[in-house]
Amino acid sequence: MKPVRNRAAGLLAIGVVVSTIAGAGQPDTARSVTFSKDVAPILFEHCGGCHRPDGAAPFSLLTYVAARQRARLIATATQRRVMPPWKSEPGYGEFVGHKHLSESEIEVIQRWAASGAPEGDPHDLPPSPTWVSGWQLGQPDLVVSWPEPYVVRAGGQDYSRTFVLSLPVSTVRYVRGFEFRPGNSGVVHHANIRID
Ligand code: HEC
Repeated sequence: MKPVRNRAAGLLAIGVVVSTIAGAGQPDTARSVTFSKDVAPILFEHCGGCHRPDGAAPFSLLTYVAARQRARLIATATQRRVMPPWKSEPGYGEFVGHKHLSESEIEVIQRWAASGAPEGDPHDLPPSPTWVSGWQLGQPDLVVSWPEPYVVRAGGQDYSRTFVLSLPVSTVRYVRGFEFRPGNSGVVHHANIRID
């Protein structure tokens, strides 16, 4: 395991869900690229879920100004496939709802950053994305919570904490999906979850 930042957990809630997320479009790579026409659709679809105000990521990427400031960083993170975070190796079968950028999407971002991160015509922008609040994968049919908030002390080093929650089920249940909701996402970096 590589070292990570804050992994302390606030109030834990794991929901079992039934829905999945849809896939991606294909940008045109045969001409010069602009933020409004080419890059914004990629960022809105693949990054905005976390990189938005109050999202899990430390900064929003939904405006031209925000994206231009980090154009090189975005190009590097996507080329190295650090972003969007998705652990499976491409080319060996895909998972439903996979989060990889396609090669052409990565190429679009490379060309945009290398050509000075131009804005283009704002009229080309796709509609601003919207997100539901609360459960992101739909209403769960089982919610398991830690009985009382786990208090994360201020300052200090990152640390990990293991929580074991028993599932209140008496028959065999098959899990199609789950979602982790920290009570305070500002102090939680990530969770590794196993369901037995
Ligand atoms: C699942 C949530 C999530 C998605 C989706 C996501 N990011 Fe991130 N991103 C993060 C988090 C969290 C961090 C902060 C990383 C950390 O603290 O270790 C981050 C950090 C970054 C950074 C800074 C990396 C650095 O080296 O400092 C860049 C650039 C970035 N993301 C770009 C993107 C782009 C571009 C996309 C879409 C193609 C994307 N991210 C999609 C969660 C996400």
